[in-house]
Amino acid sequence: MSILDKNAPPYNYLGFGLGLRTDHYLDIIEQQPAIDWLEILTENYLVPGGKPLYYLDKISEQYPIVMHGVSLSIGSTDPLDGDYLKQVKSLAERVNAKWVSDHLCWTGVSQKNMHDLLPLPYTEEALKHVVAKIQQVQEYLGRQILIENVSSYLTYSSSCMSEWDFLKEIALQADCLILLDINNIYVSSFNHGFDPETYLAGIPHNRVQQFHLAGHTNNGDHIIDTHDHPIISPVWDLYAKALKYFGKVSTMIERDDHIPPLDVLLKELDQAKHIAEKIFQVEYASA
Ligand SMILES: [Fe+2]
Repeated sequence: MSILDKNAPPYNYLGFGLGLRTDHYLDIIEQQPAIDWLEILTENYLVPGGKPLYYLDKISEQYPIVMHGVSLSIGSTDPLDGDYLKQVKSLAERVNAKWVSDHLCWTGVSQKNMHDLLPLPYTEEALKHVVAKIQQVQEYLGRQILIENVSSYLTYSSSCMSEWDFLKEIALQADCLILLDINNIYVSSFNHGFDPETYLAGIPHNRVQQFHLAGHTNNGDHIIDTHDHPIISPVWDLYAKALKYFGKVSTMIERDDHIPPLDVLLKELDQAKHIAEKIFQVEYASA
């Protein structure tokens, strides 16, 4: 039976959001800019007490919050970390998280965390393994989770299907949702030489609940997903195509380094709104 039917969140379209970063805590609390929702980095708020949680409690009273984690390591052969999951569940209840996401990757093995989002081999064995682990997580959290495509710099000779087919099968078999990172599709398509539109076309429509947009660093013969630059034109173009494929999907901008003043990110968010306005013939309030 589908968990979606039992616990479908009533907030499956939130609009246009930003990643909540420490540099902007005070601006957000004091200025209350017109941002529809905020995405938090789960791991920054798992320590009890302290300033991050103090500010998050205030901000979560004003804005819908979604949680984005980097430690689930869903692809690892290690068992799931029960303590971590307990903390995630508790934080989701505390901030009334609209949804919870993590990445289609592994971050370590034998209890060693490499703090990197490492790609998986796209094999039937890996598929079965990841599906079972996502089902375990969803059962424990009592909700569907969103799984995000990572950017990658290598592929495995053992892979027997494309990344988009693998992600599609994960979503269908585990009955989870997808966080589609448009920049990551662009980065991986550049690094591995596939057509990013083929990727979009391979993803089932009704599974995509969120988009990520971000900047990156182009080193000529490869791109690194650094999240420290503005979004480039080809990624905006791919975002427009993604909106045409998937319809209205909650969109947010990820900036993790060289964080500019909030106004700069709000302008970038307005650019996302303008693209969506043209496609859907609607008008969104400017941030
Ligand atoms: Fe992302």
